[in-house]
Amino acid sequence: IDRPDSRRAPLWWESDRARVLKAAAAGTPRYLYHLPTVRARAREIAGLSAVDRRFYALKANAHPAVLRTLEAEGFGFECVSKAELEHLYTVLPALAPDRVLFTPSFAPRAELAAAMARGVHVTLDSTYPLARWPELFRGREVVLRVDPGFGQGHHEKVRTGGKTAKFGLAESAVPDFVAAARAAGARIAGLHAHIGSGIHDAGHWRTVYAQLASLAEGIGSIGFIDVGGGLGVSYDPDAEPFDMAAYGAALAEVKAAWPQYALWVEPGRYLVAEAGALLLTVTQAVDKQGLRRIGADGGMNALMRPALYNAWHEIVNLTRLDDPPGEPAEVVGPVCESSDVLGRQRRLPDATAEGDVLLVGHAGAYGAVMANRYNLRELPQEDVIDD
Ligand code: LLP
Repeated sequence: IDRPDSRRAPLWWESDRARVLKAAAAGTPRYLYHLPTVRARAREIAGLSAVDRRFYALKANAHPAVLRTLEAEGFGFECVSKAELEHLYTVLPALAPDRVLFTPSFAPRAELAAAMARGVHVTLDSTYPLARWPELFRGREVVLRVDPGFGQGHHEKVRTGGKTAKFGLAESAVPDFVAAARAAGARIAGLHAHIGSGIHDAGHWRTVYAQLASLAEGIGSIGFIDVGGGLGVSYDPDAEPFDMAAYGAALAEVKAAWPQYALWVEPGRYLVAEAGALLLTVTQAVDKQGLRRIGADGGMNALMRPALYNAWHEIVNLTRLDDPPGEPAEVVGPVCESSDVLGRQRRLPDATAEGDVLLVGHAGAYGAVMANRYNLRELPQEDVIDD
């Protein structure tokens, strides 16, 4: 059953409801991003004294205005594909390569070559590229992504460490990597780990940093340790928010123990999730054998997270925000799949009707970037609002 309507402080789309409805009038499905919220989250990260450098994982949301906002807040960027790199440089052509990390997975040679040519920090997580394409790395620096042996996150599908994950070099293979780097004439400048996404217990980053720091001692050339992203977000606005103080304290503790390494972080979700909403229009309301379904003009094609991870996103009827909650209903999209459900047991107002605007909350991270054209539907539009 959906949560009651008690809240701490109004969310941006509640305070700015008229502008949000106006944006929806321009057509749905539409993502809307609130830049002041992005800035507020960015400043929390910027305020962590243990963090030497911060990068934004733009896979979470690559909207140009979001990228420009975070660049202005002092963030560098983490990219995972050549297309992300090119997009970044189209939006921010003057960005110094030192502010960019390239952390691909099973990239083809051409993508690694393109990143090396740009002079950005390139992360490798196996010896394969060094052994097969040593010419790309001769006389250059690389970053080593290590699998600390465990993963974490909100769902099994987003855990990126441990034996079953495709990411990261096993610690036992580090000597081989060091040898391959030496043979290729490359220098290992930093260590990296990203164990997963949607993590709430700060103790995990402490463990990761400690493991990487002890590996770094054996390697010798390490200048920085990147502990990845993964900071969790409370999708229910009434639940406890991510404990930023505990995160900062955990990082400060390990940084004090190994002050010789610069500490880098690369959050994605935390910076943008809450700043984004998906706006939809109600298409039909149908009762079938005792279950009420509210149809929307976007579903798993616009926002995959509920179908893919059983993720919970708040859904409200923005047109009737002040109406009392009604009988539980299922909110579904237009896609020809039974998994096309955005929310179950939602107490939308009983008067919810065709043409009403639905708002799906905390949709700024891994929303538009994961949208697809299944059933040949158009991709959702994207818009920003600012002060
Ligand atoms: N660094 C690396 C190397 C990553 O692979 C990721 C995310 C991040 C940083 C940023 O992680 P974040 O701070 O956003 O947790 N689609 C999933 C999330 C996949 C995350 C992939 N990697 C979801 O919607 O929950």
